[in-house]
Amino acid sequence: MRIYFDYNATTPLVPAVADAMTAAMREVFGNASSVHHFGQQAKAAVDTARSSVAALIGGDPSEIVFTGGGTESDNFAIRGAAEALEPLKRRHLIASAIEHEAVLNTLKALNRRGWQTTLLPVDQSGIVSPDRLQEALRDDTALVSVMHANNEIGTVQPIAELSAVAHARGALMHTDAVQSVGKVAVDVRGLGVDLLSLSAHKFNGPKGVGALWIKRGTRMQPIQTGGKHERGRRAGTENVPAIVGMGVAARLAADKLSTEAVRVGGLRDRLEEGILRSVTGTAINGARILRVPNTTNISFDRIEAESLLIALDLEGVAVSTGSACSSGTLEPSHVLRAMGFPPHRTQNSLRFSLGVYSTQEEVDRVVEILPRLVEKLRGLTRKPQPLGATS
Ligand SMILES: Cc1ncc(COP(=O)(O)O)c(C=O)c1O
Repeated sequence: MRIYFDYNATTPLVPAVADAMTAAMREVFGNASSVHHFGQQAKAAVDTARSSVAALIGGDPSEIVFTGGGTESDNFAIRGAAEALEPLKRRHLIASAIEHEAVLNTLKALNRRGWQTTLLPVDQSGIVSPDRLQEALRDDTALVSVMHANNEIGTVQPIAELSAVAHARGALMHTDAVQSVGKVAVDVRGLGVDLLSLSAHKFNGPKGVGALWIKRGTRMQPIQTGGKHERGRRAGTENVPAIVGMGVAARLAADKLSTEAVRVGGLRDRLEEGILRSVTGTAINGARILRVPNTTNISFDRIEAESLLIALDLEGVAVSTGSACSSGTLEPSHVLRAMGFPPHRTQNSLRFSLGVYSTQEEVDRVVEILPRLVEKLRGLTRKPQPLGATS
């Protein structure tokens, strides 16, 4: 029995998405920019997907720009806004310290080119406070970027409040909603943002395709030069089968959103309670209430996370130490560090993220095998007693 509890890294395609993509690959080969029948057929397929993606987040189809995934959407949002606002002498950018590398490294790159940047701290529960944003904002702030849900701990930020604070100082507001879209209701108008990133492979769509929602009228500079695709906002011939797949995944996610959130949330809670009960020295990292329903991040005293990850993998269970990009390295989690955890706690935590194919049987199996694995690893690292010691 193989168990996949790493849905925040990526999700499997569901059959309806694979079927729609296969049909598009076989039958819809035209270039969506061509005026003839084949081109118009491709354009119609892209536009159907555009409407489905817009509907999932409460936007207008004309505000959706398809991209090559979440990383590109984040780059486009930040670089596009920064460059568009540069002539207005707004050269200051703000992001939270727990953003994904797609945001953090984009800020670093712009910082090297002369933009000033500020990283907002989070509290121990992993939440960004509107007051701290208020303090960080300046008259020359161009953009504030705070993620909707965090990929490692699942915490959901108060985006509507943060947007109001940013707008009061004339800054644009971007949110990376890659980890919330398809898990909780996302409504661009309710969040009050100007820019929102999403990625298909996090909600059972294909990899390498995503979208940036750009509120109508937002000043943006395209970051890729070329043709007039996507209304001149993202040059490059559209990847029609991938976009079709994203559209179907968006429609399915919207249809099942509330029932899946309850089902997966119940499984996550059962897993969490089971682990806390059966394994000593465990604690949950981050706020328990303000979280996406599929994620839990748990620290295990006197355990090195990588060792437990490998032990679980040998038992057929796939989990993660946090961000997919930093797994495979022994880097401590920048998210847990920003939350103020001491060094040992940033290296002893595992992320369990559930999804569409997760079952109660799988949860119970993980709860059953974990105590034995943890005890074994703790036994290996236990310090030998000095000779003559009595206990
Ligand atoms: C919060 C967040 N933003 C951005 C990304 C990057 O998305 P993509 O893999 O589509 O480039 C990820 C992927 O893990 C993510 O979790």
